[in-house]
Amino acid sequence: MGRVQGKVAVVTGGASGIGLATAQVLAKEGAKVVIADFNQKGAEEAAQEIVSQGGEAIGIFLDASKEESIKETIEKTVEKYGTVNILFNNVGLTNLKKDLDVLNLDLDEWDRLMDVNLKSVLIGCKYAIPHMIEAGGGSIINTASMAAFASDAIRTAYGASKAAVVHLTKYVATQYGMHNIRCNAVAPGLILTPAAKNNLSPELQKTFMRYNALPYHGEPEDIANTVLFLASDEVKFLTGQTIEVEGGHYLGNPTIPDFRAMSGMKSN
Ligand SMILES: NC(=O)c1ccc[n+]([C@@H]2O[C@H](COP(=O)([O-])OP(=O)(O)OC[C@H]3O[C@@H](n4cnc5c(N)ncnc54)[C@H](O)[C@@H]3O)[C@@H](O)[C@H]2O)c1
Repeated sequence: MGRVQGKVAVVTGGASGIGLATAQVLAKEGAKVVIADFNQKGAEEAAQEIVSQGGEAIGIFLDASKEESIKETIEKTVEKYGTVNILFNNVGLTNLKKDLDVLNLDLDEWDRLMDVNLKSVLIGCKYAIPHMIEAGGGSIINTASMAAFASDAIRTAYGASKAAVVHLTKYVATQYGMHNIRCNAVAPGLILTPAAKNNLSPELQKTFMRYNALPYHGEPEDIANTVLFLASDEVKFLTGQTIEVEGGHYLGNPTIPDFRAMSGMKSN
């Protein structure tokens, strides 16, 4: 018996990275998974892989910047599997070229990131919650980011959108808890998805790791297992929370790595 046996799960942005790992973990633990992604081919291939391993999944097209497309994703899920029990609102974008500091950021990009990173979460909830109410409950998990808590030299829109995801999570938890619907978020630190590996030079990866409390980088499975935990009925009293999965990167005094190096202590 899997930890989410028989539940119907929607994973947005499930063709790659964190979403892909989560779709695989949920399927392995018995869920029927709808993988919804802009990259339809990738979503279909991910679903085929799950099916070839004995799981249940379909891959469908989603444009998370469009209300109609999110609505269709939920409708197709209900058509195929009868309801929605788990919604992983995971799609999110960043743009290192246009999402800059306050004086230089592109305002159209601000709007686009707010639509894809934040409004899509609201709309996913809007269309999934009525089915969850009908089913007697459900679990919604939103992907935030440590950028919700720690500011940066650039990526202003990204950070603001993810901070709003953290707060929206509390609103949904407050408003629909009476229907046995839980809503939590996960805030990843740097997770070495294939895209992150491509974007960050080995030097930058090493610099980043220097500030981790743990001696390794995060991997998509680290988030996937946290989402599984939040999705399962094992934590039926947990709602409105954001779990920070970041290897202790943002813990403690920021000068600790320098102090360790100066003192000859073990360091990353
Ligand atoms: N990787 C990290 O270090 C990290 C850290 C913090 C937060 N996050 C968050 O985790 C989530 C997943 O990130 P990832 O690193 O796995 O990214 P990724 O780029 O590997 O995967 C994102 C997926 O979303 C899909 N997508 C993009 N725009 C879409 C749209 N408009 N509609 C539908 N699908 C769309 C892409 O096709 C892709 O398959 C995002 O919300 C991201 O902000 C990632």
